[in-house]
Amino acid sequence: MRKSKEARLRRRRTRIFRLSGGKDDQRALAYASTVLRKGGLVVFPTETVYGLGANALSERAVRDIFRVKGRPSDNPLIVHLSSVDDLPLVAQQVPALAKRLAANFWPGPLTLVLPARSDVPKVTTAGMDSVAVRVPNHPIARQLIAGAGVPVAAPSANLSSRPSLTSPAYLLQELSGKVDVLLLAGNSPIGVESTVIDVRTSPPVVLRPGGLSVERIRKVAPSIVLPTFFRENSATDTNPPRSPGLRHRHYAPKARVTLYVGPPSLVWEAMRLRRSALRQLHISLALLVSWESPLKGEGVWKFGSRYTPSTVASRLFRVLRDADASGVQEMLVEGIPIRGLGLAVMDRLVRAADGRVIHVRGRKRRTGRGDQGLAQEPKFSDGSLP
Ligand code: TXA
Ligand code: MG
Repeated sequence: MRKSKEARLRRRRTRIFRLSGGKDDQRALAYASTVLRKGGLVVFPTETVYGLGANALSERAVRDIFRVKGRPSDNPLIVHLSSVDDLPLVAQQVPALAKRLAANFWPGPLTLVLPARSDVPKVTTAGMDSVAVRVPNHPIARQLIAGAGVPVAAPSANLSSRPSLTSPAYLLQELSGKVDVLLLAGNSPIGVESTVIDVRTSPPVVLRPGGLSVERIRKVAPSIVLPTFFRENSATDTNPPRSPGLRHRHYAPKARVTLYVGPPSLVWEAMRLRRSALRQLHISLALLVSWESPLKGEGVWKFGSRYTPSTVASRLFRVLRDADASGVQEMLVEGIPIRGLGLAVMDRLVRAADGRVIHVRGRKRRTGRGDQGLAQEPKFSDGSLP
């Protein structure tokens, strides 16, 4: 019998370091930097999510990332630098707008897609002539990369198609025995991945909304555009995504996820009704709702304030994994407004739901009791955002 792909992966001895800001951190960082330089795999914290890093200039080391994650080889990696001064190591040319964005937002949760130098291995860029680059703003990430002395290719540390990893407990579960070093340093502060912008075109394009809001980017690059998928009231996106990662299924918990969008009181009512219906069918379920929601009881998980999207971003992947770990078959999730980090949160949720988005709309009542309305019979929609 042929062994499964996963079973064929060599089990490794994983050195685990819990970093606390003390003196021992330096020893752990020096060790991890050496491992990176020699071609090993190191999981490390960034301000967005944990990354699974390898020497970006070593074809063999980068291949290892793809193997361990089970990542499709057509999905390129982000190259992490410890300083903007190292850009010439990987980028062939840096347009003026990229320089302005870097000056304003690096180190930070922003990734720039730039023309690649020809000596960046094709496996890192998935054969493209561009390279995605980011200078993270997490002291451990920066020290690690500086210590390694090489650019570090690092996708989010999760196994392919699973929710990103933002907490030590799930990192240990998912990656022990698969990588050489795990650097654990608490929960990721931002909690969603970086915003990816293609700066080779005019106007520049947001390829993936993320931890830096589009509102903030617009202050520096007013002409920046979002693909139609992310725009309000868009129905369909006829353009093929230019970020290869968007082709693949993402952030998928094991449970079937349905996302509810619309006025909050109607959304909560629709979720409550659906809960009753599923319970009658003996289907186990979790409800993921905002702090403002009146829904409570068994299986209700609160994920932050719908009016302060950064609180939702920082908890999102953890709550998705917590709810999934409770073993439910279905997850009903409250959508939040697409302002600030709410755009990144909703992008991840639409993907986790694999397009199962229910638009709950008020229906005018003839009795003249105002426009409050009732929750409409939920319908599956095309996945466009509210
Ligand atoms: O916050 C983050 O960005 C985290 C941390 C570890 O830095 N990394 C991360 O990497 O999220 P990953 O591999 O999960 O997502 C990288 C995204 C994918 O959607 C990929 O397709 C896109 O960036 N990307 C990478 N290189 C690209 C390129 N040359 N052109 C267009 N998109 C690119
Ligand atoms: Mg990822």
